[in-house]
Amino acid sequence: MARQLAAEATSLEELHQRMVSFDGCNLKFTAKSLVFADGNPQASIMLVGEAPGRDEDIEGRPFVGRSGQLLDRMLAAIGVDRNSVYIANVIPWRPPGNRAPTPHETEICRPFIERQIELVAPKVLVHLGGASAKTLLNTTEGILRLRGNWRTYASASGATIPAMPTLHPAYLLRTPAHKRLAWRDFLEVKMKLRSLG
Ligand code: URA
Repeated sequence: MARQLAAEATSLEELHQRMVSFDGCNLKFTAKSLVFADGNPQASIMLVGEAPGRDEDIEGRPFVGRSGQLLDRMLAAIGVDRNSVYIANVIPWRPPGNRAPTPHETEICRPFIERQIELVAPKVLVHLGGASAKTLLNTTEGILRLRGNWRTYASASGATIPAMPTLHPAYLLRTPAHKRLAWRDFLEVKMKLRSLG
């Protein structure tokens, strides 16, 4: 059902509307908001996180809480801001109590984020954390091994996008010593964009 709804959406607005009316994921019924995206749909960089938390659920926008503030600083470090990137999550509804989304919930929501990536068609994709990287890059490798290495994201339509897995800002808040790794990953992204012109 999600797959068909997503595939037939011809614009981000239409995809958004279709997700608003989709009742196939239990998370929708405990969340306040559908957290669709933030930023600029014409952006070269698209960042994908895991799922909204409490602040995001209240505001209806991704990465607006403490993790989001750190993310803003990471973006500033490479000279961009929220209005020049596009931000979304694998799961658009907050899991109750911020528990991890189940594999089943992730599979239900996957067609929506895949279509969202296809419609935005960024030059570079950044996976914020292991959940986003594992789900969208079809790998079981841990984020500490994945991060810092370019992967190729392949969309259903056959398009390929360079993808950089990096550490999730919430993890960096708990493990600040690893901020320097994420900093390096963001510099890689900046250099890749420069090389793509
Ligand atoms: N963590 C995420 O993965 N996404 C958000 O939107 C907020 C926190």
